[in-house]
Amino acid sequence: MVLKNGPKNPELSTTPPSPHQRRVRYRGTHPRRFAEKYKEHDPERYAAEARKVMESGKTPAGSHRSICVREILEILAPRPGEIAVDATLGYGGHALELVRALLPGGRLYGLDVDPLELPKTEARLRAAGIPAEALMVRRTNFAGLPRLLASEGRQGVDIVLADLGVSSMQIDDPERGFSYKLEGPLDLRMNPQRGRPASALLAALGEAGLAEILRENADEPHAGSIAASICQTRARQPIATTGALTRAIRAASFPGRRSKEEIDASVRRTFQALRIAVNDEFGALETFLRHLPDCLKPGGRTAILTFHSGEDRRVKKSFQAGERSGAYARIAGEVIRPSAEEMRSNPRSTSAKLRWATRA
Ligand SMILES: C[S@@+](CC[C@H](N)C(=O)[O-])C[C@H]1O[C@@H](n2cnc3c(N)ncnc32)[C@H](O)[C@@H]1O
Repeated sequence: MVLKNGPKNPELSTTPPSPHQRRVRYRGTHPRRFAEKYKEHDPERYAAEARKVMESGKTPAGSHRSICVREILEILAPRPGEIAVDATLGYGGHALELVRALLPGGRLYGLDVDPLELPKTEARLRAAGIPAEALMVRRTNFAGLPRLLASEGRQGVDIVLADLGVSSMQIDDPERGFSYKLEGPLDLRMNPQRGRPASALLAALGEAGLAEILRENADEPHAGSIAASICQTRARQPIATTGALTRAIRAASFPGRRSKEEIDASVRRTFQALRIAVNDEFGALETFLRHLPDCLKPGGRTAILTFHSGEDRRVKKSFQAGERSGAYARIAGEVIRPSAEEMRSNPRSTSAKLRWATRA
């Protein structure tokens, strides 16, 4: 769950399996593949297994451990009767904590672009006992928040939270192509029903355009040689899988002797850059940030959790500009990082940066 609290908070664990579903068969003594990890997919029934996975610093398959929950609740200080938006609902970990604090009388709008995870998350939140009128779930891009609020007849809300990037459910599902560590189709879309997969983007881009994306979206220092290697590979055969892209990146001519860790970092950054391009993440973030002050009531609070410099830079600049223009009364002076304990227990939190602002 907020698998920060993990199975200690079992309400958010998972949807119950259909009674007629047979569990997937696997080879050997332990399930290895994402779909085979049936105990991790059902932490309510197998709480001890999910806890063991978390204690080893991993995230149980099909779930997500929410980051900086305590810090976010302190900043946003949700109160009964207030109206909040979780612009990136994900697994619903932050949302559950927020909505509980808004009761009685308050309401949370939970937004996400992911049509595969959103219904599961809504079912978990409902199963956790959140009343129908206190939670509105919408599959929509947070760039369209002003439109959503207008359609709800709201001038502004008390709280807006955004926890950017992708969830562990998305990363760990090989069918979605987010992880270079897992063989799967090269898709990388948060909404696989919209737009084109990363394989199509790669097929369409010229070498210079590809290098530019790697530089702009991920500060990749070897952007030129990686783009050249991808284009050479692509000339022989289309790059359709995560494995094929990973091999093409590894085949690039990196200057000097590069360690495996350094080359892995280039692979990770290349996937990140393509993911940002495929989902137009910077475009959506910039639109969201531009409209954010208008979506908050006077005194409203916002917190944004980012995972790389391209996101953090945009949030910081937008908050600083908002403070100068008088839209924000106060903004975070320093970025807030997860505690050492959280970074140790959840390595996916290590790159997280949290910033906040208060509407004038
Ligand atoms: C890091 S996860 C959020 C996890 C969540 N805070 C929790 O506690 O479970 C980010 C989520 O935001 C969604 N997302 C990313 N960009 C989005 C956008 N522009 N609009 C709406 N949802 C978005 C992703 O699909 C993903 O589910």
